[in-house]
Amino acid sequence: EIQAFIFDLDGVITDTAKYHYEAWKQLAEELGIHFDLEFNEQLKGIDRMASLEKILSQLSDGGSSFTLEQKQEWADRKNNNYKRLIRTVDESEILPGILELFHDLKQAGIPIGLASASRNAGTLLRQLKVESYINVIADPESVAHGKPAPDIFLKAAEALGVDPRYCVGVEDAEAGVQAIKSAGMFAVGVGDAEILSKADYIVSETSKLSLSEIQHYMTGR
Ligand code: G6P
Ligand code: MG
Repeated sequence: EIQAFIFDLDGVITDTAKYHYEAWKQLAEELGIHFDLEFNEQLKGIDRMASLEKILSQLSDGGSSFTLEQKQEWADRKNNNYKRLIRTVDESEILPGILELFHDLKQAGIPIGLASASRNAGTLLRQLKVESYINVIADPESVAHGKPAPDIFLKAAEALGVDPRYCVGVEDAEAGVQAIKSAGMFAVGVGDAEILSKADYIVSETSKLSLSEIQHYMTGR
């Protein structure tokens, strides 16, 4: 019944969610804005500019006084922090169980799509040496609305030529799970069951992802 798997990248295939956190924290501290892991949870899956807006919205004036140029400069600064942090990422940073799952999907003839909001996704896939497993990469610059809107997941399904109803989406972010559900797909959440409560199926960590388990849950729904 499953005709495609569509994966998020950061926090699912590799633990770069921690580098995004670190990069935003560096910027927020320069701007004198408090930033912690709990706040960061809201930024997972959210594109660069929208993330910056959320951080600035904590200022007393909601960040409304800054020019677009100023905001662009801060967004670039965060991205430079991030690029510095991911420079040494290699295949040792693929999360546990992911390669096994990719292998099982390939074996089962189920194609894989990528639905990441990150403009650094291509670079990371290359560094992780997993490009050959991914059949389609949805370009985040080509979609009108970022997660939690379904656009990027729908784009990946369309490129794969698969009806969203037969797609499984895999996400570590609340906004990402929401995007998968809005796309009409089966949502697999990886992480905290409370945060990801809207998912159809939740595992605490990637090592617990299993194709046969997911197939079982999806058909037994
Ligand atoms: C992913 C991450 C977000 C990040 C977004 C944009 O969705 O979970 O934390 O903001 O990608 O990434 P970029 O690398 O383009 O800034
Ligand atoms: Mg993610």
